[in-house]
Amino acid sequence: MSMMNAALVESFDEPPHFRSIPAPEAAPGQEVVDVLAVGVHRATKGIAAGKHYTSPKELPALAGADAVVRRADGSLAFVMPMGAGSLAERIVIDPATAIPVPDGADPAVLVATMNPALSSWAALRTRVPFRAGQSVLVHGATGNAGSMAVKVAKHLGAERVIAAGRNRTRLDELTTEGADDIVQLTPDQDATATALAKAAAEVDVALDYVWGPPTELAMRAVLEARTQHTRLLDWVQIGGMGGDTITLSGHAMRSNAFRVLGSGIGAVAMDVMQREFTELVAAIAAGGMSVRPRPFPLDQVEAAWAHQDAPGERTVILL
Ligand SMILES: NC(=O)c1ccc[n+]([C@@H]2O[C@H](COP(=O)([O-])OP(=O)(O)OC[C@H]3O[C@@H](n4cnc5c(N)ncnc54)[C@H](OP(=O)(O)O)[C@@H]3O)[C@@H](O)[C@H]2O)c1
Repeated sequence: MSMMNAALVESFDEPPHFRSIPAPEAAPGQEVVDVLAVGVHRATKGIAAGKHYTSPKELPALAGADAVVRRADGSLAFVMPMGAGSLAERIVIDPATAIPVPDGADPAVLVATMNPALSSWAALRTRVPFRAGQSVLVHGATGNAGSMAVKVAKHLGAERVIAAGRNRTRLDELTTEGADDIVQLTPDQDATATALAKAAAEVDVALDYVWGPPTELAMRAVLEARTQHTRLLDWVQIGGMGGDTITLSGHAMRSNAFRVLGSGIGAVAMDVMQREFTELVAAIAAGGMSVRPRPFPLDQVEAAWAHQDAPGERTVILL
């Protein structure tokens, strides 16, 4: 039996471990591919910790949620083998789900960038009727996904993007990366509400990476300041850095044309995802949208799991 190196989740309470396991064989209609790079994203860790809606039901299980792979014909592809894992020297894929990666693209940059970027791309392209010329609030803009949301919104034609977040240095950098206005989220709730009301009262879409109490405050501030109550505001829940729940009054829902919805892997049909992510891969490969990879080898998977990414970087395992 041929063996290969892999990272296995053996307990939800521990990081994945470096192990030797049997190499996979393709069933009819499948393809065995070489894995080149895998991202260690928040969702990747959440899945391996049993805390994600796609976490494995049985252990041990292969860690990893995405990969850039080399196919049998030599071409590169991006894959998200839902529920099956990706952190092994070789994995089996359904060729129909392989998203082509243009020649010359850097696998590490691509896998570092795809997960943060797809959060806003999927939201703006598939979840809301966003049109070029509209304005977007990014609530929680200083992390990788929020920062990419500023760039993605601009790339897709947003006329005005307001970046709201806690880290002032990162917010200032975002003004050179596409943000038209910034709002610092501080412990001073009145000052934060006033600043949000001033900058974001008339936005068409809010992309929310924070949720929890900060979102309750932001929603109240924006809704109370709106001058055109029938102008649609879509508030899209994408991340939960500030908490997983909010309290939302019926008054807020009735007093404006206001919709709250979520965007994630479970909310978008697979064929739509395939089409959209093919375009996103091409946009990232073309340059201008990237997260800096922080590479680790596969045999240091436990160190990779423990590494805290600096702003703008994402841990990536290279095989
Ligand atoms: N639904 C999807 O498709 C999808 C895809 C990718 C990511 N996500 C989610 O998006 C979120 C961010 O992911 P990421 O990859 O960007 O992680 P990240 O790069 O680690 O960024 C997270 C950032 O959140 C900020 N933050 C934490 N608590 C906050 C608070 N109370 N208020 C405001 N900002 C706060 C921190 O920035 P400061 O310290 O600078 O404030 C931190 O840098 C996660 O919840 C992730 O699961 C969802």
